[in-house]
Amino acid sequence: MNVLIVGGGGREHAIALALSRSPLVGRMWCAPGNAGIAELCECVPIKATDLDGILDFCRREKPDLTVVAPDDPLVLGLVDLLEENGFAAFGPRKCAAILEGSKSFAKDLMARHGIPTAACRVFDEYAPALMYAETCPIPIVVKADGLALGKGVFICETREQAVSAVRSIMEDRLFGQAGARVVIEEFLTGPEVSVLCFTDGETIVPMPAAQDHKRAFAGDRGPNTGGMGAFTPVSCYTPAIARQCMDSIFLPTIRAMKAEGREFRGVLYFSLMLTEDGPKVIEYSCRFGDPETQAVLPLLRSDLLEIMLAVREGRLKTVPVEFDGKACCCVVMASGGYPGSYRKGLPVFGIEGAEKLGCTVYQAGTERKDGMLVTSGGRVLGVSAVAGTLKDAVDLAYRGVWRIAFYGAFYRQDIARKDPAVHRSASAETPAAAAPKARVDWS
Ligand code: AMP
Ligand code: GLY
Repeated sequence: MNVLIVGGGGREHAIALALSRSPLVGRMWCAPGNAGIAELCECVPIKATDLDGILDFCRREKPDLTVVAPDDPLVLGLVDLLEENGFAAFGPRKCAAILEGSKSFAKDLMARHGIPTAACRVFDEYAPALMYAETCPIPIVVKADGLALGKGVFICETREQAVSAVRSIMEDRLFGQAGARVVIEEFLTGPEVSVLCFTDGETIVPMPAAQDHKRAFAGDRGPNTGGMGAFTPVSCYTPAIARQCMDSIFLPTIRAMKAEGREFRGVLYFSLMLTEDGPKVIEYSCRFGDPETQAVLPLLRSDLLEIMLAVREGRLKTVPVEFDGKACCCVVMASGGYPGSYRKGLPVFGIEGAEKLGCTVYQAGTERKDGMLVTSGGRVLGVSAVAGTLKDAVDLAYRGVWRIAFYGAFYRQDIARKDPAVHRSASAETPAAAAPKARVDWS
């Protein structure tokens, strides 16, 4: 089967590599791809959000399956467009992708169906939102309703921060239309876990739980980024908690979506906070996570294409979805200055050295210029290593990172280091867990 992958980051590189191992896969294209993906796929210069361009490509090349990886084309309805034109696509339709596309939709759905999440208030008007920010309990979390490249969330520890967050989102429109509505949410504490699940709307199969590192610098300091590294397994996500999540969150979510005529088929990604009152949903995403995918897919033993076809066709329970019980750590190497401004076009050296050690290097912001591999984005590479223990996976991933160089490269030195499986003397408690608790009556 010939497959088109839509997207061009480290996540898409990991998807391409997993698909390339399927005996069912013939030709692979990627739109737009990157230099690493180009070693596996024919890259075509079409942006992931250029829906018409992708449809034209499908009309020309007739892929048997199009895998839509990023959030924006899913929320814009690329899967619907392709399917309406007779092309098979993997990913949720627009009416289901809204679970990520609108935080207020997700919050309402959870409220209607009793799915545990932070209590919240939703505002469409600036004045009442501002008034609420001036009086609400602190700390508080202020979120733009729509997609904002992962940057639309403000954790506000002071009243001034809350007021300024509402102003930035609703009045200054920092995130454009995504800020027409604002969600003001109870501040939760506890370790965070990302659980990516395959679902055909009826059956839901979780992949091994992972943990992302969203802040730019070690110790969870600095600005939020797309994600600076991820690892699996996560010690605090015990089998008992996994069962609780299945019963109180995963199954209720897919049943709720189906009951509301929005059957979700694709990868549903749950950002969870393991609070003292049990696991709660921080947010839903309608796709594979980045960089969680680079930590989870290397452990997949089953055929990814076979799983994707089964998801689309509503027969997920008939195919094996097996992961080996190993650990994986992915360390992201970013351009100096990221997530602010950074230089591009800088030569990248040493990937082969890292691969010789046994690491897999997923490329994100890279391109080839005159035959030379150079940087072209903020997150440049994700260096992943698999091992029998998390400690060995972390050690190997960092040994891989040390083999690679580009001018200004930076990475977090502490990926997975808080997990007790890596560093038993360190506290498993996150800074958030250590923060003061606000007990608030939200009724
Ligand atoms: P998001 O982009 O929605 O995943 O949010 C970014 C980060 O903000 C999350 O990874 C959490 O660390 C934090 N966050 C979001 N919502 C809450 C909440 N209600 N309480 C505490 N932290 C939150
Ligand atoms: N790892 C965060 C995300 O994919 O949204």
